[in-house]
Amino acid sequence: MNNAFFQCIDPRCCHRSPITEKLYQCPVCSDLLDIRYQFGDMDVPSLKRAFRERRASNDPLDISGVWRYRELLPFPPEDLRYVVTMGEGNNPVLEAPRSAEYVGLRRLRVKHLGWNPTGSFKDYGMTVAVSQARRLNSQHVACASTGNTSASMAAYCARANLKAVVFIPEGQIAYGKLSQTLDYGALTVQIQGDFDLAMSLVRELSEETGLYLMNSINPFRLEGQKTVMLELFDQLDWKVPDRIVVPGGNLGNSSSYGKALMELKELGFIDKIPRITIIQASGADPLYRTLVTSSLHLVPVKEAWTLASAIKIGRPISWKKAVRALRFSDGWCDVVDEQEIADAKAMLGRDGVGCEPASATTVAGLRRLLQRQGEQPEVTIDPEEDVVAILTGHQLKDPEYTVNYHLDNLYQHATYSNVLVKKSGKLTSTFANQPVKVPADKQEIIRLLGL
Ligand code: F0G
Repeated sequence: MNNAFFQCIDPRCCHRSPITEKLYQCPVCSDLLDIRYQFGDMDVPSLKRAFRERRASNDPLDISGVWRYRELLPFPPEDLRYVVTMGEGNNPVLEAPRSAEYVGLRRLRVKHLGWNPTGSFKDYGMTVAVSQARRLNSQHVACASTGNTSASMAAYCARANLKAVVFIPEGQIAYGKLSQTLDYGALTVQIQGDFDLAMSLVRELSEETGLYLMNSINPFRLEGQKTVMLELFDQLDWKVPDRIVVPGGNLGNSSSYGKALMELKELGFIDKIPRITIIQASGADPLYRTLVTSSLHLVPVKEAWTLASAIKIGRPISWKKAVRALRFSDGWCDVVDEQEIADAKAMLGRDGVGCEPASATTVAGLRRLLQRQGEQPEVTIDPEEDVVAILTGHQLKDPEYTVNYHLDNLYQHATYSNVLVKKSGKLTSTFANQPVKVPADKQEIIRLLGL
C-alpha cells in the first residue's frame, strides 16, 4: 500500500512533511508542495485489469472516475470511509471531425470534463480535497474562484456537511457558476477586485484563521485531477496519444497532468509521454510571457483580461509545476486571441459537443499552432498527430457568451448596467446561427423552411 507524504518541489530543498498537517507550501522554503508516495512493488498489468473491472461494479468508489484509481491516491483503504463522491469522472472521449478539419488535423478527439456532476473538471480534484478536509476534521473550507472551483467546492461541501466560503471577483464570473454556488448554499463573498486579489486574500485568511484552503495550491486537489490522465489512457486502452492540449489559468490542471505522466512513466503504466500543450488567452498569458522571455520568475499580467472569464488570471499559483510539466513532456505554451476563442467554441458546438469559452482555447490553439508551424522553432506539430483536447467546462456555464456570439453581439469590452451602456472591439460572429422570428402561422413557417 502506498505511503503518502508532502514533499517540497524545489530539488534543493525536498523537505518532507506528513500529510496529516494542514500545509499548502513548504514550511522550510515556502515553495509549492507535491504529494509523493512510497509505492512499493506494483503489479501494473493486474492493476490495469482491476481498473477496467471496477467499471462494471456498483460500489460508489469504483463508479467514480477518480477513486477507481485509488492505488495512486493518498488514501489508504482504512481512510476511504472519509471519501465524498458524486460519481465524478467517467467523461467520454469524443471524435470532433468538424473541429479537426477546422484546425487542420486529420483527426481530433476531445475529452469533455464539463460533463461532470457540477459541469467542470474541478470535480476530479474536489472529491479528493473535500475528503481530505473530512479526514482532517476541518469544519470550514474556502477558495477564491473564477466560478468553477467555487461551484464544485460548494456542491461537495453540501454533501459533506462542511461550511463553504467562496471568494469571487464581483461581476466577473459567468452566471451559471454563480447560480450553482448560491444553490449549493455556500457563503458567497463578492470581492471588489479581480481573481488574483481574491486569491491573495483567501491565502492570507487561511494562514491566519482555521479556514482550510481548497484552491489548487492544495496538493490534494491536483492528486484528484491527476486521474484525468489515468481515465483517459484507460479509455484509450493505454495507447497514449502524441499530444494533450489543455487551457491554462491558475495552472493547476496542466500541473496535475504533468505529475500523472511522471508517476505513470516511473511506475511502468506508460512508455510514451504525450506532449502537454497549454493554451492561454492573449490578455491573460503570464506563463507564455514567462517562457518566451526565459524568465526564472513568473512574469505576471496586471489586470489580466479575457472574455473566457474562467482563465482571467494574471498570477497563476502553480506556474512552477506547469513549467515542470512542459519540460518533462517536451511541451509548449501558446496564446490565442478573443476572436480565435469565439470561433473555435462555435466550431465545437457544430460538432454537437459545445463547451465554455475557456475550453475552446484548446481548439483555437491547435489551429494557430498548425497555421504557424515552422515559424517558431519551438513549435512543431504534425497534422497526422494523435491529439486529445481537454474540454474543461460545460457549454451551459456561460450561455450569455454563446447567445451574444450567435446574435452577432459579442464585444471584447462591454459595460452593462442592466442594459448595455458602453461597448467596443466588436468581434465577428463568423459562424453565427441567429434565431429567426416568425409569426405563429403555419404557411409562413413552411415558406421559411422552404418545404
Ligand atoms: N477551464 C475552466 C473551465 C476553468 O474553470 C479553469 C479554471 C481553467 C480552464 C483553467 O484551469 O486554473 O487549472 O489552469 N478555473 C479556476 C476556477 C481558476 O476558479 O474555477 P487551471
